[in-house]
Amino acid sequence: MVFLQHFFSTQDHAAAAIAAAKTATVFAWKGLTLDEYWWCSVQTLNFPNNQGPTIIVDDGGDLTILIHKGYEAEDIFKNSKALPEPEKETDKDLKIVYRFIKESIGVNPSRYHDIISKCVGVSEETTTGVHRLEVMAKNKQLLIPAINVNDCVTKSKFDNIYGCRHSLPDGIMRATDVMIAGKRVCICGYGDVGKGCAQAMKGCGARVFVTECDPICALQALMEGFSVVKLESIVKDVDIVVTATGNKDIVMVKHMEQMKNNAIVCNIGHFDNEVDMEGLEKFPGIKRINIKPQTDRFVFPDGHGIIILAEGRLVNLGCATGHPSFVMSNSFSNQVLAQLELWENRNTEKYGKDVYLLPKHLDEKVARLHLKALGAELTELSSSQSDYIGVENGGLGPFKKSTYRY
Ligand code: NAI
Repeated sequence: MVFLQHFFSTQDHAAAAIAAAKTATVFAWKGLTLDEYWWCSVQTLNFPNNQGPTIIVDDGGDLTILIHKGYEAEDIFKNSKALPEPEKETDKDLKIVYRFIKESIGVNPSRYHDIISKCVGVSEETTTGVHRLEVMAKNKQLLIPAINVNDCVTKSKFDNIYGCRHSLPDGIMRATDVMIAGKRVCICGYGDVGKGCAQAMKGCGARVFVTECDPICALQALMEGFSVVKLESIVKDVDIVVTATGNKDIVMVKHMEQMKNNAIVCNIGHFDNEVDMEGLEKFPGIKRINIKPQTDRFVFPDGHGIIILAEGRLVNLGCATGHPSFVMSNSFSNQVLAQLELWENRNTEKYGKDVYLLPKHLDEKVARLHLKALGAELTELSSSQSDYIGVENGGLGPFKKSTYRY
């Protein structure tokens, strides 16, 4: 097994313990640069005897994208002898990815074809990764079966909501020790992650504002007592801005320059797309003062400054230690079941080159497995009760239709 973590997510002592126990090969340390991150990603594909992984657990889709881009580039090379041109690529990640792929083609022009041919599938952890997989499947570019773990109820309705409800304030407090009560906090995006973040900030006594583009989520926010605003309407007054949209270009430098002195900006959504760090770093005359790792004050030429956490990357991972183990145990139980499902069906036709959900009974199983730890007593249905509401298997579930929204 090979193990990789994102930029600031690694707890070095934990990574060292895994490496020392020799239960997995680890390519991770806290504070990876973009170049190092992709170097580590490439290393995770190098197994002994020129082999590659036979199954992948992904979080955000980067490894899946790497092997697909490698496969595509090898096809182009085979047909036309043309190599990738990283220098022409404008996307900062793809620039590096193509550089590594170009090197790999020079050494072994079928490296990624070999990996894909032996890989039985991928199980994907998060909203953004699932979105990427769905686009690939729609465009008929997906080369391996994929299980969407994110949309298991016991993942997105727990990890995304309750995990972030715990780890957002944890990250902000560890980084700044700021008093959240009484402050104006704007949460951009009121999906699962945004809901957890807004709840947490409300619980801390903040006055919470939400930005949304989806009218249903906007209405939900209002019904929970939050104001729904455009970022532009509140940007001059807000004390803390948290991005949780999974989208790009949410807090731009034009917003940041208008913020009040020592406003805090952080992201808990998409890895590095939501806060315009490039625009901020290039702002004429800007000064960056590193207060401590993952906490920076950017001072504008007029003397006022804003505080950026985790360099605009995931604040709960960069400034705290991510979600607590209990909620991750739910997410990873889904990952394990998804991996077993892919592996056990590797020689069947059950999973094609598409994105699948885990069956509902497995989702319920994950929840069932975690009830005891919290001392729950689950009510058992009588047979007449289960017949009455249509619960199958003598009242053992599934308890809800797949359309139920929780
Ligand atoms: P979601 O789809 O449930 O919520 C995102 C919300 O943002 C949606 O309601 C959407 O309408 C809204 N939105 C999109 N563009 C917007 C814009 N320009 N302005 C305002 N609102 C906008 O997704 P979910 O599950 O909440 O995930 C959000 C992001 O968080 C994803 O990138 C996901 O991968 C990431 N995530 C991060 C975690 C962490 O620990 N840091 C944990 C779980 C997910």
